[in-house]
Amino acid sequence: MTETFTVTVEPLEREVECRADQPILDACLRAGVWLPHACTHGTCGTCKVEVLDGDVEHNDASDFALMEFERNEGKTLTCVATPTSDVIIEADVEVEEGVVHHPVQDFAGRLVSIEDVARQTRRLVIDLDREMAFNPGQYVTIEVPGTDATRTYSMANPPSEPGRIELQIRRTPGGLATDGWIFKDLGAGETLRLSGPYGRFFLREARTAPAILIGGGTGLAPLKSIVRHVLEGGLAHRLYLYQGARMQADLYDVDFFRGLEADHPEQFTYRPCLSDEEWDGPHGLVTDVVDADFPTCRKHMAYLCGPPPMVEAALKTLMRKRLFPRDIYREDFFDASDKATGGVRSPLLKA
Ligand SMILES: Cc1cc2nc3c(=O)[nH]c(=O)nc-3n(C[C@H](O)[C@H](O)[C@H](O)COP(=O)(O)OP(=O)(O)OC[C@H]3O[C@@H](n4cnc5c(N)ncnc54)[C@H](O)[C@@H]3O)c2cc1C
Ligand code: FES
Repeated sequence: MTETFTVTVEPLEREVECRADQPILDACLRAGVWLPHACTHGTCGTCKVEVLDGDVEHNDASDFALMEFERNEGKTLTCVATPTSDVIIEADVEVEEGVVHHPVQDFAGRLVSIEDVARQTRRLVIDLDREMAFNPGQYVTIEVPGTDATRTYSMANPPSEPGRIELQIRRTPGGLATDGWIFKDLGAGETLRLSGPYGRFFLREARTAPAILIGGGTGLAPLKSIVRHVLEGGLAHRLYLYQGARMQADLYDVDFFRGLEADHPEQFTYRPCLSDEEWDGPHGLVTDVVDADFPTCRKHMAYLCGPPPMVEAALKTLMRKRLFPRDIYREDFFDASDKATGGVRSPLLKA
């Protein structure tokens, strides 16, 4: 049997049992002890903590997210670190009013459908073996069959549909999960192993300032969850959704969002933007279209999601328009190349 150690989380004064082969974050999230995290793959640095006592293996932590001097100073990344003794860690835990965190659990999912919705983009609908409670914008982690690897995908459905999840997945050339499986031989009826919910990118319901939502590519997925949650749940948030794509062939769910806009003209604005093709809608980089639409972003908030360079560009645009980092939530779709190379390292990304 695998050895188990006690992880004490300060300043929460909570003790969690963690297997020697289990990441500390995983043990905590399953025990209902919420720690900050974003990518859960050792890439972003959000889950960095100080080890006050005891020893850990850093495992697959990116050298960019956890630098040599930080390792020497006793820091670690809880999403990949495993304990080799009882440990005491100190985490930067922020208590947010009105936010409920749901414990992570394992699920078996049956793939109900898999369809092409745009160029290199597929929609997966998965029935779970039981309901999953989550916040709109969070993601699941899926095991890639025949490997030890997992990959993360954001849920596009709202929490009001807890037994059936929708994922929107873009193919990455040479990618283990997408090129090697999801876009190759994955078919309806197959069983998927997944866990969730993860992530800190979700709607802050208590914050009711008008929200600018910017999604690049399949970065639309968690924003769709947020939009549906607000509009179908009768919440009052004013939402502006920007969907960035290169060409019309890359856009999807356009009719769905136009329908919502027609049904909620005072509350919801939908702006699909194309950067590489002229059409009868907004033309240009999504950040340029936002820039032109808003003389100032003061008294707004924002949710940004997609490829890290787009998220970074959107962040800069919004800050130039007088939005503070504390009013901006971001989800960077990091992949294995970002982990290996460091990707976009924003000084504004918590590390
Ligand atoms: C929080 C979060 C949520 C996400 N949600 C979604 C979502 O809803 N939809 C979606 O489409 N994506 C999402 N992603 C991205 C997704 O998790 C995967 O990263 C993406 O699908 C690529 O996975 P892959 O296995 O196909 O590619 P990977 O195997 O990760 O490879 C990616 C690229 O890196 C290259 N590469 C691999 N190893 C190395 C190396 N050592 N050095 C340099 N290059 C290398 C590969 O050749 C390939 O081009 C999300 C990511 C995060 C962090
Ligand atoms: S959550 Fe651990 S490095 Fe990103």
